[in-house]
Amino acid sequence: MRLPDCHSFKDFRMLAKRRLPGPIFHYIDGAADDEITYRRNTEAYDACDLVPNVLAGVDEVDMGVEVMGQKLAMPIYCAPTALQRLFHHDGERAVAKAAQKFGTMVGVSSLGTVSVEELSETISTPKMFQFYFHKDRGLNDALLERAKAAKFDVMALTVDTITGGNRERDLKTGFTSPPRLTLQSLMSFAAHPMWALNYFTHPAFELPHLKDHVSAGTNLATSVGDYFSTMLDQSMNWRDAEELCAKWNGQFALKGIMSVADAKRAVDIGCTGIMVSNHGGRQLDGSRAPFDQLAEIVDAVGDQIDVICEGGIQRGTHILKALSIGAKACSGGRLYLYALAAAGQAGVERALGNLRAEIERDMKLMGVTKIDQLSVENLRFRRR
Ligand code: LAC
Repeated sequence: MRLPDCHSFKDFRMLAKRRLPGPIFHYIDGAADDEITYRRNTEAYDACDLVPNVLAGVDEVDMGVEVMGQKLAMPIYCAPTALQRLFHHDGERAVAKAAQKFGTMVGVSSLGTVSVEELSETISTPKMFQFYFHKDRGLNDALLERAKAAKFDVMALTVDTITGGNRERDLKTGFTSPPRLTLQSLMSFAAHPMWALNYFTHPAFELPHLKDHVSAGTNLATSVGDYFSTMLDQSMNWRDAEELCAKWNGQFALKGIMSVADAKRAVDIGCTGIMVSNHGGRQLDGSRAPFDQLAEIVDAVGDQIDVICEGGIQRGTHILKALSIGAKACSGGRLYLYALAAAGQAGVERALGNLRAEIERDMKLMGVTKIDQLSVENLRFRRR
């Protein structure tokens, strides 16, 4: 199997599985507990049917959207994800360049592996910084200042990682960042010589946003769950979020909102966006799927704040369903991470290209030429 054979999410996943050492693949692919929420995130879309209209004159299709003040050429963007240079030696550089090529936004994590400064010098496409609220207030201030100085367009405070999710695949494989050299991991590297060669011959893995503040993030191998549980501030509350939002003084989102009550409070503290998300099923297993929860949130706050639907998206039709309910845009992590692991920038470009082609085809088949022509009128929900 090679990149030209990748036509869908599942194909990229298979190729990534072949290319990556087991612990790294399972870090991306895994989720919390029994992974029920992870599966539900995608299955939720199957319980909703599309009702197309025809004879609409669809030769010209515009799939552009505006979200949190950013004009995107397509309604899906690359959600911020951690540790990307573990998956491919170009990491965020590859993802950011691919996103720019497709005129969409790219998210960069506090646990990113290429600095915000470098990324803002290389690309001009809209950029989102994902913020983890650490116990170390000096680190928090530094993160905010660096993202501001690097002219990031959107700040997103993650609110669903107050403690580490129970990722049992990581416990089984012993996944840590950076990878610990154990007999098991050495065997896994030996079985994936191309990955190992690239990893060890490119600039050393580091977490540039944390390295001056957190030894656990760099020198000491640690699991992501442990990182959340020990480094992040579990006392974080609405006052902290409000303060951060005011300090940023720009487009500001809470990432990981699931309840209507919280969505309303996000409006109250001055946020301009929320990501309806359960962190890809990686935190609270049993949490509802974002798509299932979208309608009540959009009904409550959709006219006051930009609602973004994140998690489980694998197809253009999934995106059209979420937009029909009233999401302003969608985002996803695994949908480009497998492609990154499979083939770097070319892989991410192919994944985004596939999605763009699907969205365009599906819009034509739905009889719409602009995203705002989609509405709940075009959806029917199956009884479950
Ligand atoms: C994760 C974090 C780092 O889910 O976003 O692994």
